Amino acid sequence: MESMGNLVRTHFCNDLGVENIGEQVTLMGWVLRRRDHGGVIFIDLRDRDGITQVVFNPEINPEVHQKAHQIRSEWVLAVSGKVEARPGDMANPKLATGAIEVLIDDLRILNSSETPPFPLDEDTEVSDNLRLQYRYLDLRRPEMAANLVMRHKAVMTVRNYLNDAGFLDIETPMLTRSTPEGARDYLVPSRVNSGKFYALPQSPQLFKQLLMIAGMDKYYQIVKCFRDEDLRADRQPEFTQIDMELSFVGEEQIMALNEGMITTLFKETLGVDLAPPFPRITFDESMSRFGTDRPDIRFGMELVDLTAIAANCGFKVFRSIADQGGSVRAINAKGCATFTRKELDGLTDWVTQFGAKGLAWVKMKADGEWQSPIAKFFTDEERAAIAKEVDAVEGDLLFFGADSNKVVFQVLSELRVELAKRLDLLKKDDFRFTWVTDFPLMEYDEKEKRYQALHHPFTAPKEEDIEKLDTDPAKVYSRAYDLVLNGTEIGGGSIRIHQKSLQAKVLSVLGIGEEEANEKFGFLLRALELGAPPHGGLAFGLDRLLMIITGSDSIRNVIAFPKTQKATCPLTDAPASVARKQLTELHIRPDWKE
Ligand code: AMO
Ligand code: AMP
Repeated sequence: MESMGNLVRTHFCNDLGVENIGEQVTLMGWVLRRRDHGGVIFIDLRDRDGITQVVFNPEINPEVHQKAHQIRSEWVLAVSGKVEARPGDMANPKLATGAIEVLIDDLRILNSSETPPFPLDEDTEVSDNLRLQYRYLDLRRPEMAANLVMRHKAVMTVRNYLNDAGFLDIETPMLTRSTPEGARDYLVPSRVNSGKFYALPQSPQLFKQLLMIAGMDKYYQIVKCFRDEDLRADRQPEFTQIDMELSFVGEEQIMALNEGMITTLFKETLGVDLAPPFPRITFDESMSRFGTDRPDIRFGMELVDLTAIAANCGFKVFRSIADQGGSVRAINAKGCATFTRKELDGLTDWVTQFGAKGLAWVKMKADGEWQSPIAKFFTDEERAAIAKEVDAVEGDLLFFGADSNKVVFQVLSELRVELAKRLDLLKKDDFRFTWVTDFPLMEYDEKEKRYQALHHPFTAPKEEDIEKLDTDPAKVYSRAYDLVLNGTEIGGGSIRIHQKSLQAKVLSVLGIGEEEANEKFGFLLRALELGAPPHGGLAFGLDRLLMIITGSDSIRNVIAFPKTQKATCPLTDAPASVARKQLTELHIRPDWKE
């Protein structure tokens, strides 16, 4: 192998264009592919930014040309030469540098490479595990490198925006106590304090509130958070938040500031012009129209409540569900009466994973006729009434969910998105934001037999609902807001409780007694007694935002070194076993076998 010697890189591979023709340049990078054409060798040289075609012609420098013969994929090169226009019709419009090539007169082979375990130059299907095991190779692929460049751009845009708005970047501890965000904690045992554990933060929630009490108005941090929960395409055990908190503000200022930040972010990263203010929808309205608090508003197919009609109909299943206080709702898949019986049976099976006990459907025929397994149970009047409610015409396909509200909402909201996918209604470059507001403060958990905070226990109730905390906690609405983008919750926050008495009250309604409250967050309760200003904030999931900005299917594609579905890292093989001695030092006596 050779050294770089006196060669100094003059450009990145994507920098060169017709304006550089005639210049002597030096590039350094990896061999994407090598082609030999009648004695001339062509190499696509790749670096972080792009690809340049470099050419080895025996007439330019026979020695260099001879050396180029041994070069293989992923070898590391330094090359110097003159930029030339590609001859005749050889230009490649698909490549940013496709109009030029570099005629090489100096070559240093800086390193060789074994054949990579998967090809980096094409859209070959590579298993996720292999990609993560060789993540450093995976990241050489242009689309992956572009994702990381985009992430950098996004972070810089956010920092600049918040800096201009007077925010301070303040770090909060990683070794801390549990913060209740609803997931399981990652725990770290303490060596010096036997039997005690730190928790990695699920969010900086309590510290950012303490910073407001400390007078550090307008805090932000781009910060790692840790949650031990079941993983999905948009969930990682460690992920990054754009976290912020402000004092002396209400919902309106926080939402306006964040609309400005998101608008700037989309302009800077994608060149897309958003038009704030973003639409708002209350939680209740979102549930009744979309069956979820994460509405995807790129398409219609909204839920329609048919319980009143179903209550009197001849179909026993619907009638008895209506009688028992459940609901019967429908969605109208416009023009989908062409679905085959097989597709309908497939969908009926598919919805059982969400608790559905069946999936009644109706194909709308001419003159209001129904083709449906339940057609016979409905009178002409009932059929007409339903068609009117769901705005159905010939050629439409209706789906019905009948069950408890909870099940119906889940089944139809999932089905709605699944149908939209199949009908290709989910355009990746259509960015539809919605604020969801007026969440209930808490909901009753049937399993635990107590109320649970919908957001977190520090969220303020709406002032006019405070008195209902004693009488009807489920009817208390909160000052929380989520920002939803194309069906994904990208951020959430709230105005917080800043008075000790109200905080203690909310904790007690949540079944957290005084002793437990003092034990877990006595420090916050105490701080609320020492001059806490009114405050509120919000946190975005940076990875989720980038997943959508880059059009990725998983947040793994925008994280340099993510974890698998099973929370492992195939590259480093984490988590790993540790020596018994280490555990002993940590005062842990395992009961598993070596
Ligand atoms: P919340 O729990 O809603 O709020 O989290 C804020 C945002 O973080 C993202 N997010 C995740 N992203 C990837 N993987 C995960 N496992 C994951 N969990 C959450 C989501 C979510 O909207 N302290 C409050 C914020 C506040 O009240 O200011 C909080 O953490 O996009
Ligand atoms: P059955 O009378 O059980 O054969 O059901 C007739 C139709 O109603 C079938 O298409 C079932 O899938 C559907 N169905 C049954 N129960 C429900 C339910 N709870 N919600 C929606 N559709 C249902």
